[in-house]
Amino acid sequence: LFSGPVTFVLSAPELKFLPDPTVPEIAFAGRSNVGKSSLLNALTGRKSIARTSVTPGRTQELNYFDVGGGEDGSPPEFRLVDMPGYGFAKAPPAVVKKWRHLVNDYLRGRQVLKRCLLLIDARHGPKPVDAEMMEMMDIAGISYCVVLTKADKIKASELARIVAMTEAEARKHAGAFPEIAITSSEKGMGIDELRGFVLKSAEG
Ligand code: GTP
Ligand code: MG
Repeated sequence: LFSGPVTFVLSAPELKFLPDPTVPEIAFAGRSNVGKSSLLNALTGRKSIARTSVTPGRTQELNYFDVGGGEDGSPPEFRLVDMPGYGFAKAPPAVVKKWRHLVNDYLRGRQVLKRCLLLIDARHGPKPVDAEMMEMMDIAGISYCVVLTKADKIKASELARIVAMTEAEARKHAGAFPEIAITSSEKGMGIDELRGFVLKSAEG
C-alpha cells in the first residue's frame, strides 16, 4: 500500500474550487462505469473512500484524495484525482458540455498534473469516445497510461485480443505509454504494479 494515510479532500464542480497547485497530482479518466472509483479504492486499500455506483455518471466533479503526509501539518506526498466519467448514453447535452469544459480546462491548465491513468473496460477495448479522450490529452500535453479494467470478467483468450487492440490504439497517440496495464479491482489483479507506477509518476 501507499505509505501514510489516504484522505478525501474535496469535490470540485469547477476549477476555482481546486486546492492550491503545490502537490503532484495523478488523475483517473475513463467512461462512466469503467471502474475509476473502484480502482482508486483498490490502489489505496480502502473499500469505499471513492464512491462507486452501478449508475453511470454518478461522479460529475473532480474528487481529490490526499496520499501521505499530514503529520504536524506536513503536505501530502501526492494527490489522486477521480475525474467525472464520459460517454454515458443518457447524459443531457448541458452535462456533456460542462464535462468537456471542466476536464479540458483541468488537463490543459493544471501544472501539477503529472500523469493520467486512462481506464478502458477490458470487455470492450477502446471505443471512439476513448480515442477522443486520448486526443484531448495528447493536445493538452499529458502523458498517460492506458489501464484495462474488469479483467476478471473475460476469458484469457478474449483478453489477449483486447490487449492487442488497445496497444494498437495507444501506438496512435503521442501521450500514451506503449505498455498498457491489465487490472481487476475486484480480484486485485495488476493493482500492486499499478501502485508502483503511480508512485513513480508522482515522484518524477
Ligand atoms: P462513474 O463515477 O459513473 O464514472 O463510474 P466509475 O468509473 O467510477 O465506476 P465504479 O468504480 O463506480 O464502478 C462501476 C461498476 O463496476 C460498479 O458496480 C463496480 O462494482 C463494478 N466494477 C468496478 N471494477 C470492477 C472489477 O474489477 N471487476 C468487476 N467484476 N466489477 C467491477
Ligand atoms: Mg466514479
